[in-house]
Amino acid sequence: HKDLIGLRDLSKEEILSFIDLAKEFKALNNSDVKKSPSLHGKTVINAFYENSTRTRVSFEVAAKRLGADAINFSSSQSSSKKGETLVDTIRNMEAMKTDIFVLRHPNSGAAHFVAQNSDASIVNAGDGLNEHPTQGLLDLFTILEHKGSFENLTVAIIGDILHSRVARSDIWAMRKLGINVKLFGPPMMLPVHMEVFDCHVCSSMEEAVEGSDVIIMLRIQLERQDGNPFPSVREYSKFFGLTSTRMKLANKNAIVLHPGPINRGVEMNSDVVDNKDYSVILNQVENGVAIRMAVLHTLNLYRKSRNA
Ligand code: CP
Repeated sequence: HKDLIGLRDLSKEEILSFIDLAKEFKALNNSDVKKSPSLHGKTVINAFYENSTRTRVSFEVAAKRLGADAINFSSSQSSSKKGETLVDTIRNMEAMKTDIFVLRHPNSGAAHFVAQNSDASIVNAGDGLNEHPTQGLLDLFTILEHKGSFENLTVAIIGDILHSRVARSDIWAMRKLGINVKLFGPPMMLPVHMEVFDCHVCSSMEEAVEGSDVIIMLRIQLERQDGNPFPSVREYSKFFGLTSTRMKLANKNAIVLHPGPINRGVEMNSDVVDNKDYSVILNQVENGVAIRMAVLHTLNLYRKSRNA
């Protein structure tokens, strides 16, 4: 494909091939030199219309490790503040011979729309509530590393599912891989049509955690709720937070993931976040670089074959 817009669009084989390639890039990242020339001479622009730490920096690191020129564009300091449209902005930067754009945008569908209106490759780095495909891939890579296989696996995704593009990418991919997915969150933070996900919806934290091999905790997205969520932060922590006591209900050797940034003391207590027995949150961040290298490398191969 020219672009990576979402995991809903990919086959099981395509998802697994990104993970296989990421294993090779992870080995490179753990070597002495950490460089591969596969994107030498190419230009990658990170076009971010929303804040980011992990995704923006790891795409920049990934592009540089592959030898590309990596440029960061921040909408807050750009002419979009003067009213320039998204497509005009991308086309102007494309005129500078940009090969790949990594786009984060607050509106669902923005990456798809830009991809239809640009010859450059577009990687969706999170579009509104829709998808965050590289986060989904790095979650799967991390789960595979710790669990050895996707077979007979139960994953609980807990929290603010309504606002979570991470949850959507995880769910679409996990269902394709045959993973058993349980969902739980405050009723007002669940999408209306939960049936489209074909997942079991739990009615308590205890039900969600019990029998799970993997627990993915989501951030309560205060910025999408005017900073004034219902339930309140205190209630959220009590009824929907992951504690070390609740972790005892999970399966033996269960692991805990979180896409970050974490609201410590809200969706998770610090003794869970920092517990080295089961928290793999920083492994996710490490794997994010390798996954993004795999994605940039694959899109570049497609571009080469198209131009041959
Ligand atoms: N997980 C994630 O997307 O984090 P950032 O918003 O910091 O990129």
